[in-house]
Amino acid sequence: YTLFNLFFTVAVTEKATTCDDSDNIQHLSCDNGVISVQSALYGRADRQICSEGKSPQQLANTQCSQDGAVDIIKNRCDGKRVCEFNTGDVRSSDPCVGIAKYLETNYTCLPANRLVTCEHSNSHLYCDYGQVIFVYGADYGRRDRTTCSYRRPASQTENVYCSNPTNIVAQTCNGKNSCTIRAHNSVFGDPCTGTFKYLEVAYTCECE
Ligand SMILES: *[C@@H]1O[C@H](CO)[C@@H](O)[C@H](O)[C@H]1NC(C)=O
Repeated sequence: YTLFNLFFTVAVTEKATTCDDSDNIQHLSCDNGVISVQSALYGRADRQICSEGKSPQQLANTQCSQDGAVDIIKNRCDGKRVCEFNTGDVRSSDPCVGIAKYLETNYTCLPANRLVTCEHSNSHLYCDYGQVIFVYGADYGRRDRTTCSYRRPASQTENVYCSNPTNIVAQTCNGKNSCTIRAHNSVFGDPCTGTFKYLEVAYTCECE
């Protein structure tokens, strides 16, 4: 996948830094393409970042990081155009009590098409003549409250922790010029019963 590798090399890395004072919001976004989270730090690795108003003791530990922070953010954000979450959503336990922490996320914007299909509907991926689909990522579940929420009761949209990355779309569609796949439990299984789900797909078109 030469072209895909090229995307990686030309992609510019964006950095988002959010101080963990109260539950502050981190905002990741791509003007073009979709988010691909590269690395993340929740803790402290630097004395200067988010040091305003802090005592020396609160900045004393610069080797503090919570394991797994990058996976949490990847689950929430990869493949989206915009992604917002609280620092509290990333914190699973306090990696260094008494230290002022921050969240730093490095991400790139991959120039991929993004397709969202609500549960029960068909998802149709297609490329121009002479090009074939390469699926960068797919997720069948729910990662926010607003997508596919029209006329749905709150009980079906409030579980936003139903991220379920799947390679079924890649297996079905890679290498084809167009491809239709149903956003349905019969295809993907049911990762969260009672939640109205949707299929998110990020894909590129490559020359055959
Ligand atoms: C983000 O990238 C910068 C520049 O390469 C690097 O200094 C920093 O350590 C990275 N942050 C994380 C959380 O990996």
